[in-house]
Order: sequence, then structure tokens, then C-alpha cells
Amino acid sequence: MLNITISTAKLGDVDAPLLATLIPEDVKQLSGQMVELDELLGGGVSKALSSEAFKGRLYSSFLLYTANKIKSDYILLAGLGPREELSAESFRIASGEAALRASNLGARRYALYLDPRSAEFGEQKVVEAVAEGAELALYTYARYKSQLDKKSVEELILITDRGDNIPQLKKVVEDAQKVCEGVKLARDLTNTPSSDLTPTLFAEEAKRVAEKVGLECVVLGLEEIKRLGMNGVLSVSRGSREEPKVVILRYRGGKADEKPIVLVGKGVTFDSGGISIKPSEKMEDMKYDKAGAAAVLATVYVAASLHIPLNIVAIAPLVENLPSGSAYKPGDVIKHYGGKTSEVISTDAEGRLILADVLAYAVDKEKPQAIIDLATLTGACVVALGSQASGLFGNDQALIERVKRAAEASGERVWQLPLWKEYSEQIRSDVADIKNSGGRAAGAITAAAFLSNFIGTTPWVHLDIAGTAYTAEDGTKVKTYTPKGATGVGVRLLIKLLKEWASTSP
Ligand code: BES
Ligand code: MN
Ligand code: ZN
Repeated sequence: MLNITISTAKLGDVDAPLLATLIPEDVKQLSGQMVELDELLGGGVSKALSSEAFKGRLYSSFLLYTANKIKSDYILLAGLGPREELSAESFRIASGEAALRASNLGARRYALYLDPRSAEFGEQKVVEAVAEGAELALYTYARYKSQLDKKSVEELILITDRGDNIPQLKKVVEDAQKVCEGVKLARDLTNTPSSDLTPTLFAEEAKRVAEKVGLECVVLGLEEIKRLGMNGVLSVSRGSREEPKVVILRYRGGKADEKPIVLVGKGVTFDSGGISIKPSEKMEDMKYDKAGAAAVLATVYVAASLHIPLNIVAIAPLVENLPSGSAYKPGDVIKHYGGKTSEVISTDAEGRLILADVLAYAVDKEKPQAIIDLATLTGACVVALGSQASGLFGNDQALIERVKRAAEASGERVWQLPLWKEYSEQIRSDVADIKNSGGRAAGAITAAAFLSNFIGTTPWVHLDIAGTAYTAEDGTKVKTYTPKGATGVGVRLLIKLLKEWASTSP
């Protein structure tokens, strides 16, 4: 974590090699302390602003050398994009840009001046977004690097002209950092190669995480999974030597009698496709197939560290999907927890099979007020929405709207797709209640329709994060604050949702 401090220092005296500020498009006037700073620099900053060199576009930035006229060596102008499109997301991206420039300069410390004009946008919102952008942009997955390419940035000084609300801003920064710690945890788990994070190792990691914040952690092993009749989990894991696990993390922040909100995450530690094996190209990306499990684990962890006053349970089925002589096969019929049966058309449609058991189990045992599941479920969702939004499905429009609001506020976009009952025709089976593939047409929807069979009437939202859980080499725009690899998607969205939930429930 960065050491983020808030200061009312004079810009010319700030003891940091880089001093950044964020500026929208077409803003030619400096404001606040930047006016005096510009004078100290002989008008260099305003010159840059009025030239073609810097236009304030999002993702762009401009570096000025200060030639020893002030304490900092460099000033950085980072673009926020069009003023009428300003959002928390603009600040996250621009702050990420500044953090990356600091890192590229080899600076251990940098300062960011909060332009007084950004206060009209809500200073706390700006500070939250700036802290998130910096923390998340500077994330690297270095576990297997014998040498780091760069010195790491350690300190960020946020400079404000207002001294009256520093305690509030400090709290905002602290909370944002707790959330980012969760995002990084989710990224770490998701980025870890499957051989170093098997279902067993994932469950052990969950226990360690739970202990840190006093969460209750129950791990169901092979015998309990058998006893409970979670045959989807059993079937998928059968091709691997790694035993399946189901991790249950419980946080009791709400009243004792209050029903929990259950978060379910797909935890396929590696998805080869099984007997319906995938092509080898990009198969390495299938270590990311545990992103849903990582996100829900990280979310309860953050919820506990923020003391959100709700009861929250995270449940993740963990399996490895491999082909072998003991693997499950196309044509098999599985009897899931609760008794519904499914015919296996493709062993590569394994996510829905393990989620089926766990969703039915959650409904039965937890009687939740709502269930939200996150799963890297379908390639079809990637085809539909790319990396710009997670697919959203649900059976309760009020819950759906809540999730949409949290998505907007967090910048983790979602897009609702329909779950009309006609789609269920595609997954009707001749031999079982349903089958696990509905063919190519509407693949993300038929996967969600499959899951809906295990929910009953519990308010439920399913997020297909196949396109948003990691940024691929050849992917679309990698945001400044989501470096290549796992994004940790879902954690910030869910925390926004839970906070809002806690503040509106009686
Ligand atoms: N884990 C994959 C989905 C996926 C694809 C995630 C690409 C991330 C990137 C899932 O288990 C899968 O293989 N789904 C199949 C379902 C099909 C066989 C019905 C798919 O999408 O092709
Ligand atoms: Mn698969
Ligand atoms: Zn999968």
C-alpha cells in the first residue's frame, strides 16, 4: 500500500520530485496555488496549457521540467477528458496516469494537487477516485520475478488548499485503501498460476485471509461434498488429482436475525475444458477462471475490515477441470444438490455445473435476502460485450437496479441482458431436466438461464465477468489503473453495493 498523506503545503515547497495536477479538456486557466506556481516558473505551466502540447485528453499527460525554480523537479499535467463527461472514473484514470508517470520516473514519492475547481464535483468523491486510481495503477504481480524492473512508488502526498476537512479526507483515503487492498488480493489470487493455487491451496489462503479480520471460515472437503450431493462439483473435479473444495466465509456485521446477502464466485482454478478440451491457444488464460471466487472472498474481507453492518456470506466452489481417465464425460447426467438433473453436453460448460450445486445449497441453508454470483462463465459474453462491461442477469428488477447503480459509481460497468423464458427452450434435455449447453446462439443468456433453475424465488443477480476479469495482451484499452492480467473486477462494485445497502436498510 502507498503511504497517502494529505497536506496543505505550499506547492513550491513540496518535497517530492514530481508534482502532478489533473486538468479537464479545454481548460486554459490555472486556479488556486497553481497560479503562483506558474509565476515561479515564469509562466511555463500556462504556456503548456495554451499550446498544442497538452489538450487535457483522458489518458494523456504532459511533463514539464522545473529547472530548479521550485523544489520539485517535474510538474505533470494529466488530462481528465471533456469537462461535461467528468466522472469519478475520469479521476481514477487520470490519477492512474500520474501514478504510472511517477513510477516511470523512478520517483519514490510524488505529490498531487487537488485543483480547488474539482471541489464542485465533490472533494470526497475526487479523493476516493484519486486514491483508488493511484493504488490500483501501481499494482504489479511480482511473485515470480527474480528482479523488479522499477523502483516502487511508496508515497503520495495529496495537496489541498482547504484545511477544514482534512479528517474527513483522511477517512476517505483510509477506506479507499482498504477496498484497494481487497482488489489487489483478488488480483493476486486470480493471477496465481493454477499449480500454485489449487482448490486446496485456495482454501488454505481463504482461511488465512479470514483469520486476519475474524471471519468464520468453513471448508467443505471431498467427503462433505459427496455427503451433501454436490455432484456438479464432484463431476467437474473428477478428471483432476486435485480434490474439490467449497469455501464458505461468513461475516456477521448485521443483526443476529437478519438474513444474509450471499455472494457466490466461480472458482475453477484451471479450465482446460476437460474431455471437451479447449484449443491450446490462450489456454494459459484459463488460470483466470477463478476470478469470481477471488472477488467474493476479497469482498467479504473488505466488508469486515470496513465493518459494514450487514450479514454477508461468500461461497466459492473450487475445482480444476482436466481431462483424464477418470474425468466426467459428455452424455453424463448429474444430479445436483437439491435433486435437479443436468445432462452434460460439453465438459467445458463446467462453471454452471459447479455453481448449480452451490446456488441451490445457498438458497436452502442460508435463506438469503439476495444472492449475487460472479463467474467467468462464457466466451459468448466476451463476444457480446468485450471488456467494457460484465453481463448482468437477474430475476428481481429492484436488486438489478441496485447493482447497476453500484456499477456506475464504481466504474465497473455492467450491461443487462434478457432472461426471457423462451431462452430456456435451448437448454431443454431429452434425458435430464436441463442440459449444460444451449449451443452458440445467446450463449451468455442460456448459461444464465441454466443457473436460474437453482435459485427458486430468491432475488438473484448473475454477473458474467468473462470479459472483464482480466485484460488480455490483444485486448481493448487497458485502463491506467488495471494493468495487464487480473483486474479484480467485482470487488469495488460489490463494496459500493453493500455500503449503499447498509445505509438504506432499516
Ligand atoms: N471459463 C470459460 C469461459 C471463458 C471463456 C472465460 C473465455 C474467459 C474467457 C467457460 O467455462 C467455458 O468454457 N464456457 C464455454 C461454454 C460452452 C461450452 C457452452 C464457452 O463459453 O465456450
Ligand atoms: Mn469451460
Ligand atoms: Zn470455465
